[in-house]
Amino acid sequence: MVAVQQRHATTGDGARPAPGTTILRTAGLTKRFGRLTAVDGLDLEVRAGEVLGFLGPNGSGKSTTVGMVLGLVEPTAGRVELFGRDLAADPDAVRRRVGAIIETPAFYPYLSGRDNLRALARAAGGVPPGRIDALLRQVGLASRAGSRYKTYSLGMKQRLGIASTLLTDPDLVILDEPTNGLDPAGQREVRELIPLLAREGRGVLLASHLLHEVEQVCDRVAIIRGGKLLRAGTVADLVRGLAGGASFEIALPGSAGDQERAVGILRALSFVEQVAADDGRLTVVAPEERGAEVNRALAEAGLYAAAIVPRRSSLEDVFLELTEPETAEDTKP
Ligand SMILES: Nc1ncnc2c1ncn2[C@@H]1O[C@H](COP(=O)(O)OP(=O)(O)O)[C@@H](O)[C@H]1O
Ligand SMILES: [Mg+2]
Repeated sequence: MVAVQQRHATTGDGARPAPGTTILRTAGLTKRFGRLTAVDGLDLEVRAGEVLGFLGPNGSGKSTTVGMVLGLVEPTAGRVELFGRDLAADPDAVRRRVGAIIETPAFYPYLSGRDNLRALARAAGGVPPGRIDALLRQVGLASRAGSRYKTYSLGMKQRLGIASTLLTDPDLVILDEPTNGLDPAGQREVRELIPLLAREGRGVLLASHLLHEVEQVCDRVAIIRGGKLLRAGTVADLVRGLAGGASFEIALPGSAGDQERAVGILRALSFVEQVAADDGRLTVVAPEERGAEVNRALAEAGLYAAAIVPRRSSLEDVFLELTEPETAEDTKP
């Protein structure tokens, strides 16, 4: 009986939490190192079936947060709740349902990928025999499963790392900068795996400083800087909340004087929020439906745009607005 329960807990073969259930919650989570507050009152939530992008520049406190969620770093204040239970009260029971890659995982260089997974499975206990080959297929390593680890590319090594975190069939997977150090092809191989984990009903916490990575694979994003949560929501919600929300790229042939004149004319329009000029190209922040009026105002002054291209805001715009102060020249007085 005890053995059966243990097996159930380590392999997670019970039902997954219902999609949308909060499986990780941090409340007021705080970590100080001496005088430095690395994580500052952080409230985060990861739900079953979603990838949460935990986005912030280097040094913003992501890895420290991950360490606290995994019980490797002791919080100074605040709480971590996994699957509705306090991590501090029941660390082992809840940690068994979490798989994580926090650095490039350590494997035996002279063993094959498959034998490395076998060794880890033996150590974890309770891994069904068929799972190793199923995981190797899932991460695209089936054809190289018998090759020595040391012959793998970095992307293959990282994919084997992801397979290793899935041995115990965790409900929550934590990936801290999983594409660090990979070439573009390797990054793509790893990235493509991430949404699949969520489709299996797991929750995924993806810590990354790479905007486009987070934008590509995440359902929701939490933006952190200086240990503080700046914003959390879906990419679409965050972009919609931006000032202006849309902009136009205008290609304007002509002299520098013409461009200066164009900037003046555009800034005078009541619906224009910002104008920036850069070597024959103007960026105008204005509502998407005002493009024709922008065009007309320029044409009436004898300035003919070669192109006016509406540009939808991206997560990058949100990130820049949150993390960089606007420069005085670029902002309408
Ligand atoms: N063990 C530690 N002792 C002292 N300072 C630390 C320690 N770990 C991290 N820090 C500091 O905490 C801040 C956040 O670091 P970290 O969580 O690694 O950020 P990120 O993962 O977002 O790059 C950094 O300023 C870092 O130097
Ligand atoms: Mg880090």
